[in-house]
Amino acid sequence: MDSVEKNFERTLVTSALPYANGHIHLGHIAGAYLPADIYVRYLRLRGVKALYVGGSDEHGVPITLTALKEGVTPKEVIDRYHTANTAAFQRLGISYDIYGRTSWPLHVDTTQRFFKALDAGGYIHTEEMELWYSPQLERFLPDRYVKGTCPKCGYTDANGDECERCGAQYAAHELLSPRANIPGDASSPVLRKSRHWFLDLPKFEAPLKAWLDGHPEWRPNVKGIAYGWVNDLRSRCITRDTDWGVPIPVDDPDAENKRIYVWFDAPIGYVTNTRQWAQDKLRDANGWEIWWKDSGTRMIHFIGKDNVPFHAVIFPAMLMGQGDYILADNVVGNEYLNIFNRQTGKSEKGSKSRGNMISVRWAVDNLPVDAIRYYLCAIAPESKDSDFDWDEFMNRYNGELCDVVGNFVHRCLTMTVKNFAGRVPEAGELEAADKEMLDAIPRQMAAIAESLEGFKFRQAVERFIDLGRKANVYFDAAKPWVTRKTDMARTGATLYVCCQVVKALCFAMTPFMPGGAAALAATLNLALPNNGPDGGEDAWAAAVAPLPAGSALNAPQALFPKLDRERIAELAEAHRQGEAF
Ligand code: MF3
Ligand code: ZN
Repeated sequence: MDSVEKNFERTLVTSALPYANGHIHLGHIAGAYLPADIYVRYLRLRGVKALYVGGSDEHGVPITLTALKEGVTPKEVIDRYHTANTAAFQRLGISYDIYGRTSWPLHVDTTQRFFKALDAGGYIHTEEMELWYSPQLERFLPDRYVKGTCPKCGYTDANGDECERCGAQYAAHELLSPRANIPGDASSPVLRKSRHWFLDLPKFEAPLKAWLDGHPEWRPNVKGIAYGWVNDLRSRCITRDTDWGVPIPVDDPDAENKRIYVWFDAPIGYVTNTRQWAQDKLRDANGWEIWWKDSGTRMIHFIGKDNVPFHAVIFPAMLMGQGDYILADNVVGNEYLNIFNRQTGKSEKGSKSRGNMISVRWAVDNLPVDAIRYYLCAIAPESKDSDFDWDEFMNRYNGELCDVVGNFVHRCLTMTVKNFAGRVPEAGELEAADKEMLDAIPRQMAAIAESLEGFKFRQAVERFIDLGRKANVYFDAAKPWVTRKTDMARTGATLYVCCQVVKALCFAMTPFMPGGAAALAATLNLALPNNGPDGGEDAWAAAVAPLPAGSALNAPQALFPKLDRERIAELAEAHRQGEAF
């Protein structure tokens, strides 16, 4: 627990707020949600004060465009997806302390305070821009409301603000052959002047550099992107011509038909949701401030790679401009989860238009939650992209979690319950191999903890499986099913040692596979702690304390039911047909 406890009193964990504009899918989960959840469950086990904040991002052009295309209000769109995604996260065991909404009234207040403080500090100015306007609809066409040809690569289906093919970002007026991307607009867009509000990012160059320089421990992919931005800072437009968003808190007729840009208000949603949590749970309107303004708080953002500039440059600048907020201690950015296509033998980007995404709701309807969590952690795209592959999914879950850990636990507990009247046997006289196994427990637990604290979740889950492998080797060599016929004391010693490993495995699996851990804890009559943001006892440290001889055990159940080959083939086929969303 070194890194966590030494310098900090509490940890604030955030996961990127997904747009309430579609169902969340496994790519999102592998990037920003599962690692954060594993981390925060680990902190809770350790009794660290930890608050996990998330929520829906409910402003922005994608949402109003969906509403226009469906002929419904934006409110209907966000209500639908906020509800669906809240349920999906819950079913997957993503254990937010609060899952909020940027459409909450409180969020207007938080966002406007941020804006006003930046304005008062001299970090905001206005500029006249030339933007696309629809003569027919008599409205501006911000961002994706207009499509055209990319000025950099010539792609003809480029967005108004960026090109999906070459990744270029450009000013609206640079777009070639523009056309409106709204149903019912046949007119040709024209350029029109509009005054907008800008955030003076260059003013934050020195403090941003100093802050980044102070964090050599961050992942290189995150630092690379952040330095790229900081070395080339420009003012950014933080308002849009739209009526969907937070009103601009200035007394100016030009602000009337405009709103704050979604990427300004979205990260402030973390603050709003912390405020709402404090109001609801603590009944203390100021209870949020310690999480955002006290130097004893350690803030960690979990995000996908595309969100790095916002969390490692723009939002930190916005926080610096407030004067009294803390900055993130780490920005854990993940690469992408792609989809492996067995037919072509190639990995594909997950995309809506390809229809190859797997939604969380479909996944939890069809697969065990612990299996999904295990596999996504085992292949987490930490330093490079990884592939979701159905065969690998089945083989790794069946071959590692079921065959190594599940099988060991089952063999140990079945033999113990049967031969020792449902109680942990006496240790008796321990031999070298027994002692070696017992010694390996704290060592391996420390190794898992080290990986988790270093945000190496793949490595952490591998080390967890390693403990299971060591235990199987020990069990097979000790052969309790043979010694049972001749030497009950020896058999008891072996199973005593095995029960200690089972106990440690139970705690170690808790952050990754909370379902299996709860079932195993019930079998062992162990209480897993229920620590909340106030912290509590360090149950992880207690996990290596022995389960005393004589402790009662319940009849073991299969923790991790095996996946059936034919069923997986069916699901893979449904996925191939685009039905997994
Ligand atoms: N909605 C954004 C996305 O899906 C993420 C917003 S993260 C926040 O890419 F920090 F801004 F909230
Ligand atoms: Zn392009």
